[in-house]
Amino acid sequence: MKIIVIGATGTIGSAVVGALAKRHEVVRVGNKKGDHRVDLASPDSLKKLFRAVAPFDAVICAAGLAKFRPLKELTDEDFELGFSNKLMGQINVVRLGLAQIADYGSFTLTSGVLSQEPMPGSAAISPVNAGIEGFVRAAALEMPRGVRINAVSPPWVKETLVALGMDPSSGMPAASVAKAYAESVEGTKNGLVIDARAFA
Ligand SMILES: NC(=O)c1ccc[n+]([C@@H]2O[C@H](COP(=O)([O-])OP(=O)(O)OC[C@H]3O[C@@H](n4cnc5c(N)ncnc54)[C@H](OP(=O)(O)O)[C@@H]3O)[C@@H](O)[C@H]2O)c1
Repeated sequence: MKIIVIGATGTIGSAVVGALAKRHEVVRVGNKKGDHRVDLASPDSLKKLFRAVAPFDAVICAAGLAKFRPLKELTDEDFELGFSNKLMGQINVVRLGLAQIADYGSFTLTSGVLSQEPMPGSAAISPVNAGIEGFVRAAALEMPRGVRINAVSPPWVKETLVALGMDPSSGMPAASVAKAYAESVEGTKNGLVIDARAFA
């Protein structure tokens, strides 16, 4: 398969590339690095990416910005970042990639466990993750030509906790999280939110 990985240079995305590149042709997409560059918040840049790479069999999005900050400190801009980048950006990956994706292809988006298991500081992230999951369940009902769509919901990733200087003991290694993405692309799941913790 020819698989586009948006966020391929990131913590999760690079592990996803590592899991899939031996078996598939992987197109690595980042924001500042990668074979191609894209800004999730810009529909024009997504259109340009899909035009340049088509035809393709699958798109994985392991990118998306949202603000983690106490509720009383969150600004309009903080909320807007998550809505325009992580939520609408991923919805646009599907809307703008749909015309060019192959029959029986697949989209895999990224939410996060904070949709179902919030914590103090997640008030601008939890609704974004829940929105992605709602979109995936609804959009699956209208995918044409056998195209599938799922979201992967990662827990805190071990490498991310290390980078943030937090206790990594509860984190899941990115390589294990990547197995959930591989399952979404290579399996038959459709319209599902795949909890990456099942692949620990
Ligand atoms: N890590 C975790 O613990 C965790 C847990 C749950 C959910 N998630 C979610 O998983 C996704 C990936 O997280 P991560 O930790 O792997 O992120 P990361 O290490 O910060 O990597 C982000 C990736 O996205 C790209 N990117 C940044 N801004 C972008 C933009 N505007 N448009 C398109 N691509 C952009 C980066 O490209 P460049 O390298 O070129 O800048 C990079 O490839 C995020 O949506 C995050 O919310 C992460």
